[in-house]
Amino acid sequence: KKVVLAYSGGLDTSIILKWLQTEYGAEVVTFTADLGQGEEVEPARRKAELLGIRPENIFIEDLREEFVRDYVFPMFRANTVYEGQYLLGTSIARPLIAKRQIEIARAVGADAVCHGATGKGNDQVRFELGYYALEPDIRVVAPWREWDFASREQLLDFAEKHQIPIAKDKRGEAPFSVDANLLHSSSEGKVLEDPALEAPEYVHQRTISPEDAPDRPTVIEIAFEKGDPVAIDGETLSPAALLARLNQLGHDNGIGRLDLVENRFVGMKSRGVYETPGGTILLAAHRGIESITLDGGAMHLKDEMMPRYAKLIYNGFWFSPEREMLQALIDKSQENVTGTARVKLYKGNATVIGRESPLSLYDQDLVTFEEGTGGYDQRDAAGFIRLNALRLRIEARRRTRLGPD
Ligand code: ARG
Ligand code: SIN
Repeated sequence: KKVVLAYSGGLDTSIILKWLQTEYGAEVVTFTADLGQGEEVEPARRKAELLGIRPENIFIEDLREEFVRDYVFPMFRANTVYEGQYLLGTSIARPLIAKRQIEIARAVGADAVCHGATGKGNDQVRFELGYYALEPDIRVVAPWREWDFASREQLLDFAEKHQIPIAKDKRGEAPFSVDANLLHSSSEGKVLEDPALEAPEYVHQRTISPEDAPDRPTVIEIAFEKGDPVAIDGETLSPAALLARLNQLGHDNGIGRLDLVENRFVGMKSRGVYETPGGTILLAAHRGIESITLDGGAMHLKDEMMPRYAKLIYNGFWFSPEREMLQALIDKSQENVTGTARVKLYKGNATVIGRESPLSLYDQDLVTFEEGTGGYDQRDAAGFIRLNALRLRIEARRRTRLGPD
């Protein structure tokens, strides 16, 4: 038996690694990805080696550019938010991890893949839907649903028995569950479990609080080409470098914090604290540039589709025919979304204060309250309104006929 494990190098996935070897009797291949989580990935190599993984079975990859270019940016073309607020920072990373695990499984001739998501959340669903969509007959090992450990204590005893190093503070259990990548960091559980209580400041890791942000605004210009950001203040940047730059700007201005109670796909509500500094700026800027380059009908159609698209990503259906259909619609809409948005960053806010495009549909001559031209005759509006009012008037007459109650 050969298993490709999504391995972070942390305590939990190290326990899983050992468990796969000792209880499951498998040869383990580890896969560690740099998605911009802000932690070195190389230490995972040494940890894997210490746990007995052969060098040729250790895969460590920098996926930051692919993550932003092929997952984050396509998602932002749709201005995607789940339940009105969540920018899907964890959800969008899972398909890429699943894809690489499957590719590695093929390369090394493994018959199974394994992840460290618990049996209670969304991530298990996202990983596994990804695996099955790409490799229909793959075997999936989900230790959290399979092993007999009944408590965190037992888990740590197992770690101790197998000489897995445990950081001192871990005995009392990790304070909360964190997932991070270039797009966001999320925290759930423990001190956050009571949704009535404000999240303590120390939960936040990639933004200063808006209260502490500078009293002076920062203004930046983001250039877009066909719906994707390509430059900041005239400097062309790769996707990952651009998002990293926006993250820094967002961090410094306290932008992108979210405290949300959301509906998990598996049915329960959960409370999460998210920080998406760069993404929050990007969303505002993208809407800004769309506002002058997108036709109104096109905009409203994609806005209507967006919640469904968001739900597909949240629920783990990135590799599905309907997500790809929606993506084609969204991408088509972006053909002319080119130009520059100027955004003011100030104490937790990202506000668009200017937009310009060679492909703009905005017609100052048409909209001006001063005398204008351009094919609009005010007299046309009278008939337009009368016909639109027709059914409202018919309804109103019926009401009059029937009298009060
Ligand atoms: N609730 C968020 C989501 O479902 C974040 C999940 C965080 N995952 C984690 N393993 N800590 O996308
Ligand atoms: C987990 O269950 O592993 C984290 C939370 C989630 O996936 O929703």
